[in-house]
Amino acid sequence: MSATGTKTLPYGEAAIVEAARVIAAGGCVAVPTETVYGLAADATDSDAVAGIYAAKGRPSFNPLIVHVPDLAAAEALAVFDDGARALAQRFWPGPLTLVVPVRPGAVSSLVTAGLKTVAIRVPAHRAMQALLQVCGKPLAAPSANASNRISPTRAEHVLATLDGRIALVIDDGPTPAGLESTIVDAASGAVLRPGPITAEDIVRCSREGGSLGPHGISSITLGSRLRGSTEEVTAPGQLASHYAPTKPLRLNAMEARQDEWLIGFGTIAGEDTLSATGDLTEAAARLFDALHRADASDRASIAIAPVPGDGLGEAINDRLRRAAHR
Ligand code: TXA
Ligand code: MG
Repeated sequence: MSATGTKTLPYGEAAIVEAARVIAAGGCVAVPTETVYGLAADATDSDAVAGIYAAKGRPSFNPLIVHVPDLAAAEALAVFDDGARALAQRFWPGPLTLVVPVRPGAVSSLVTAGLKTVAIRVPAHRAMQALLQVCGKPLAAPSANASNRISPTRAEHVLATLDGRIALVIDDGPTPAGLESTIVDAASGAVLRPGPITAEDIVRCSREGGSLGPHGISSITLGSRLRGSTEEVTAPGQLASHYAPTKPLRLNAMEARQDEWLIGFGTIAGEDTLSATGDLTEAAARLFDALHRADASDRASIAIAPVPGDGLGEAINDRLRRAAHR
């Protein structure tokens, strides 16, 4: 336990039992998922959900993502058409969040911010899966960081901004994907937030199987929509400035300037590198950790080498633009 009272337990039966006890009592706990660490509470309990906002110091009530153990549990909370079901069957468990019509009263209206839709995903991580099984409740979980700070991919990152504000962190090492889930609006097929599952993955799935939306959008229409979508459509609560380090961040840097901490990529070497071989999967997994270390360094500001925008690079550049926005 830290001096200020947040307990860290390694992943295991004892940690899951303790976390489930905290959640059953209306509290929230930090738990790893395959994307980032989440701050989880019972999605059906408004007081518990309010506790998430209080711990994060989130100024407004943005809708939260609900985590469930499987598609059947998701269908108990929301309505899935053939297109949404095809995406769920292809990518769940995994880092895809689907925005679908909520069944009235299925979750607290604080979770949906009063919308008629809910964002749902089935996580692949053993810790979040075990917690869902033992709790037997849908769990609302935003990233486990103070509002507007860098998302956590390690238990230490959670403590960096929430120490003393939450009861418990389950530590299961670094998260494998390292970026928040891809959010897709099932009604339109639009990618609301780019993430580990790329727009191309979504298009490929819709081409092979179902079509999205009530009017059966063809894969070609969907493809062109998806390519243009991330700039025009944003999910509510997606602020221009987000995931931000406390220091200024300069993008597309070819070298460090005075008093800058350079994060490299590919052939551009720095204090640290996202991937020396230019691998985008490795870069995504390391991005938030690299930003946390840069923020904690003795340099006044941060610079980062260019990262290509294709595939997973779209989500990486989305997070970098938000981190650099002042
Ligand atoms: O990877 C993740 O998705 C992580 C881990 C912990 O699972 N969770 C996460 O949750 O990023 P959160 O609550 O920070 O993401 C919520 C975002 C909102 O900012 C909003 O953009 C979108 O999900 N969202 C939630 N409900 C929505 C809705 N009904 N319609 C559209 N967007 C919605
Ligand atoms: Mg977040």
